[in-house]
Amino acid sequence: MRWFPWVVVSVLLLVGVGCSSNQQVADLTRQVEELKAENEVLKSKGGSYTPGIDSLVKQGALKPAMIETVLPYVGVIASVSAGDWEGAQGAFQQFKQQTSKMNGMMGEWSEHVSPELVDSLGATLSERDKEAAEEGIKAIREACHGCHQTAMVEAQQRHHWPEFEAILSEDPINQDELSFAETMWRMELSLVSSLGLAMQGNAEGARQGFKEFETRFDAMSQTCSICHTTERMYYVDKESRTRLSAIAKLLESPNPAPDALMGTVTGMAETTCDPCHRVHLPAAYTQQRGL
Ligand code: HEC
Ligand code: HEC
Ligand code: HEC
Repeated sequence: MRWFPWVVVSVLLLVGVGCSSNQQVADLTRQVEELKAENEVLKSKGGSYTPGIDSLVKQGALKPAMIETVLPYVGVIASVSAGDWEGAQGAFQQFKQQTSKMNGMMGEWSEHVSPELVDSLGATLSERDKEAAEEGIKAIREACHGCHQTAMVEAQQRHHWPEFEAILSEDPINQDELSFAETMWRMELSLVSSLGLAMQGNAEGARQGFKEFETRFDAMSQTCSICHTTERMYYVDKESRTRLSAIAKLLESPNPAPDALMGTVTGMAETTCDPCHRVHLPAAYTQQRGL
């Protein structure tokens, strides 16, 4: 009976393979479930700004459509609060029509403002139930807000801010043409290398480096007017400039105290560089990141 052990082995193998493939299927199913759950979290955090919305914003088509939506919606609100049910129903018909237009314009619309949500407001108006109508109005406002929370800021930063990347300016020391990011980088380098030299006791080098930094800082402050037509009161104003002079003064001593030096430089960065970054970097980096 030479075949007997082979049968046993084959049966064992089959059972074994069966077991392991069952196990694999279970593992894979679990992994798929986990990935799905993770995807849902990412989707909810990623927000509502999609390539479709981006292209509408880019064409300038979304703002006017939004205004056309808000007008009849406000009409409903005003009529309900005045107790004018006829008026409310008239405004509602316009609003409903506009929401279906929005639905055709972008698929994301109904994920927030669903036809059922709109219809349930309509029902409260037919019933002339003020309390329910106010609830319905609020539910729609919250649905609009759900999309605005993420999509509106993205839209503004991507398409309603001028581009820092488009700015080129001449380096006042090397006379070559630099992007805004390179201008920043050169400014940073002259500041940090000046500090480094001061710490090494190279007072003359530090003073020279800091002069370069000041020259670059002043050149940078000329770039504001590329975007701003009104004078801005922070970051490169007289007070900020005075802080630079305080550092230059410290560097005049042959052995500037490292703590005092670090303190004034950090103070300058916290009042000049950092707040300007907090205002301008979100738009600059959102644009660079792409979608
Ligand atoms: C307009 C206000 C403004 C001020 C004032 C300002 N920055 Fe910037 N900074 C920017 C912007 C905008 C960018 C991003 C530019 C880009 O990437 O196109 C930037 C980027 C940078 C970067 C990153 C460069 C890179 O390639 O990643 C550094 C470093 C930097 N700044 C240093 C400084 C220092 C140091 C100061 C203060 C002495 C300063 N900045 C002051 C607006 C400012
Ligand atoms: C699917 C996303 C989405 C939904 C839903 C949505 N909006 Fe908007 N809305 C936007 C975006 C994006 C902008 C910014 C457009 C821009 O700046 O170009 C905006 C801008 C607006 C603006 C400002 C227009 C301006 O002048 O800057 C109003 C008003 C507005 N929406 C009203 C509404 C109302 C009312 C609803 C609900 C009935 C609604 N939106 C639902 C995405 C949405
Ligand atoms: C690429 C265009 C661009 C450049 C260059 C730029 N800004 Fe701005 N900045 C903006 C925009 C857009 C806003 C937001 C809208 C507004 O305030 O005009 C803003 C806002 C500000 C604000 C906040 C509003 C206020 O007045 O309090 C300050 C301050 C400011 N910028 C200062 C500066 C300074 C200083 C520089 C030069 C070092 C500069 N900006 C360079 C585009 C720019």
